[in-house]
Amino acid sequence: MIELGVNIDHVATIRQARRTYEPDPVWAAVLAELAGADGITVHLREDRRHIQAHDVERLKQTVQCKLNLEMACDTEITEFACRLKPDQATLVPERREEVTTEGGLDVLANQDTVRRTVQALKEAGISVSLFLDPVSEQIAAAADLEVHAVELHTGAYSLASGRQQQRELRRLADAGRQIRRHGLQLHAGHGLNYRNVAAVAAIPEMRELNIGHSIVSRAVLVGMEQAVREMKRLMVGASGAPSSPLSDAPL
Ligand code: PXP
Repeated sequence: MIELGVNIDHVATIRQARRTYEPDPVWAAVLAELAGADGITVHLREDRRHIQAHDVERLKQTVQCKLNLEMACDTEITEFACRLKPDQATLVPERREEVTTEGGLDVLANQDTVRRTVQALKEAGISVSLFLDPVSEQIAAAADLEVHAVELHTGAYSLASGRQQQRELRRLADAGRQIRRHGLQLHAGHGLNYRNVAAVAAIPEMRELNIGHSIVSRAVLVGMEQAVREMKRLMVGASGAPSSPLSDAPL
């Protein structure tokens, strides 16, 4: 079974452009869940450029599917997460100047901070995933921390084309095998869209894809429910898993 986590950060980006109340990311989450999303993902960034703490609080009270909070290894946000208890926390690196998360977390260079954050989240009963580049040493370091999952950064794959893209896909598949050998769940995300998702969804043992920008972009034109159903159908079709009644429903 492959699951879709819909990242709704960019619904909040539109709202923050006018500092108003619409569009409400919580409404978007409800529509995504109704259309078959298995999870809702949000990134509470230090600079609060899109999602705000009160959005995460309202999402926690509203969504019935998995709530996945992307976050940096930051003391204040860790305390917030431990209080709120999302189902899953995905640890990501964060730089204020970046347009979006640019690379995977460097677990080796930040071992103490990552270990402290993982421990606090696990003690609060939160399942922890680390967002990593497909690099063997980083995956081994993640396994040492006994996290639940590794989310592979698909940015390089999504920016490449032709033979380079095939090479990036092989790197993801090799890293996926290593992750499974360590007994961790395999997730992936970043830059995935309606054209490039199938090959990543077809990687054996892929359990969760987190997709934001392409779904929200399509939703602006065709509506959130149709955008989510189309993505889920592509993923499930490529993974070879039997499809669910929701992804079979007419658009
Ligand atoms: N996974 C992680 C860890 C991310 O940081 C992001 C971007 O917030 C995504 C997935 C979704 O990326 P995109 O918006 O490119 O689909």
